Amino acid sequence: MHDPVEQHWHLGPIGVLPTHQGKGIGSRLMECFCKEVDACRSKAYLETDLEKNVRFYEKFGFKVVSESEIFGVTNRYMIRDPQQ
Ligand SMILES: CC(C)(COP(=O)(O)OP(=O)(O)OC[C@H]1O[C@@H](n2cnc3c(N)ncnc32)[C@H](O)[C@@H]1OP(=O)(O)O)[C@@H](O)C(=O)NCCC(=O)NCCS
Repeated sequence: MHDPVEQHWHLGPIGVLPTHQGKGIGSRLMECFCKEVDACRSKAYLETDLEKNVRFYEKFGFKVVSESEIFGVTNRYMIRDPQQ
């Protein structure tokens, strides 16, 4: 419902084992993803419900474009424009 109308990549949830978080693995995953979408000159889109994840995705160029409450949980919708 919040997905961009134009062609885009939809980033599903990513996860790193709790014992391995904070070691740069998530950032590496995001760098690989961003490299692929930039090569296609496409927008990317994702949905997340945690503020700390919003900050994580913002590091890679995603921006919150809208929010909605679903069963008392705030969902954030984020878009990233292609970068050179
Ligand atoms: C979010 C997540 C994928 C990040 O992976 P990671 O390997 O821990 O990330 P990195 O080691 O590359 O750290 C990148 C940044 O995220 C921050 N970070 C660390 N743990 C984090 C966490 N649990 N949630 C959000 N951000 C986190 C780090 O502080 C770091 O910030 P810095 O660059 O300012 O130092 C990982 O924490 C995770 O799997 N979380 C649980 C699942 C989840 O919520 N996935 C997102 C669904 S939308």
